[in-house]
Amino acid sequence: MDTAGIRLTQLSTCAGCAAKLGANELRAVLAQLPAPPPDPKVLVGYETGDDAGVYALNDQIALVQTVDFFTPIVDDPFDFGRIAATNALSDVYAMGGQPLTALNIVAFPEDLDLAVLARILAGGADVARRAGVAILGGHTIKDREPKYGMAVTGIVEHHRYTSNGAAFPGNVLVLTKPLGTGILTTARKRDVISDGDLTEAIAWMTMLNEGAARTLWECGRRAVTDVTGFGLLGHAGRLAEASGVALEIEAAAVPFMNRTLDLIRDGIVPGGTRNNAETHAAFTTFASGVDHAVRIALSDAQTSGGLLATIPDWAVEDFVTNLPSDAGVAAVIGRVGSGSGISVV
Ligand code: CO
Ligand code: CO
Repeated sequence: MDTAGIRLTQLSTCAGCAAKLGANELRAVLAQLPAPPPDPKVLVGYETGDDAGVYALNDQIALVQTVDFFTPIVDDPFDFGRIAATNALSDVYAMGGQPLTALNIVAFPEDLDLAVLARILAGGADVARRAGVAILGGHTIKDREPKYGMAVTGIVEHHRYTSNGAAFPGNVLVLTKPLGTGILTTARKRDVISDGDLTEAIAWMTMLNEGAARTLWECGRRAVTDVTGFGLLGHAGRLAEASGVALEIEAAAVPFMNRTLDLIRDGIVPGGTRNNAETHAAFTTFASGVDHAVRIALSDAQTSGGLLATIPDWAVEDFVTNLPSDAGVAAVIGRVGSGSGISVV
């Protein structure tokens, strides 16, 4: 089967299609829905903007459900499949759950070689195997551009699930993957960098958040979310709002992938990241010394990003020591205070 020579990222018919709908637009739509009938089994619903829904099966175990799919952000179909699957599983880990089963969600152009689809699905299956997740089926439609992702079901014990809303003043803010996937994949799509320059980003995007979630649990984690389309500041902002706290982020402590800041200085900024930065300005203040490229990078729309979590200050040393190197970076990037909003210093 030969899929070489096809540049998946060039098939996109619309520059903005791959981007998530903005947080504010989405909120406006959800606000128009009638309030769901009260159901004590719904432990976490869509109202809180959490990573996944949580539904009690009995008084010990709850279901965790999430879905995510998008257009190709890399050219290699196998890598695209791996990234989309890793990203889809991430929301279950962010809630503290264990993913069990998945359904593939596929859109595929009529005139594109089916070998490409086989490679995308093989990539997804590879990640599912690694995560111990059974793929039970899926659904495929014809579409002008390819899209792939998964609906994922997991379980969690009641005492073990967490959310955006559990951060406390005095907690320490940690991040488990460097930022830059939006900038780097956009630079590749525009032929500013080579496939080789994307290797680091692909390695991060295909790293499961399972190990990081486990270490965070062992370190008494409070609030946890994963960093995806709304960028670090967007997800941090939701966490701060849901918890009723303020966050202070130390810009110099935030890890970035190689070349990310240089590419921003060269003008490589995806539309979604620019929109994010405008939205984030409403709740973020920057100290005057914070570099312009860093400000943009903190809003960069991530795919399959790391976990952003708050842990008690007594657990920081344990977290830094115990996070396995194949589970992420243990970046200590700030603190939780009382009040609201984010200050970047
Ligand atoms: Co998420
Ligand atoms: Co998601």
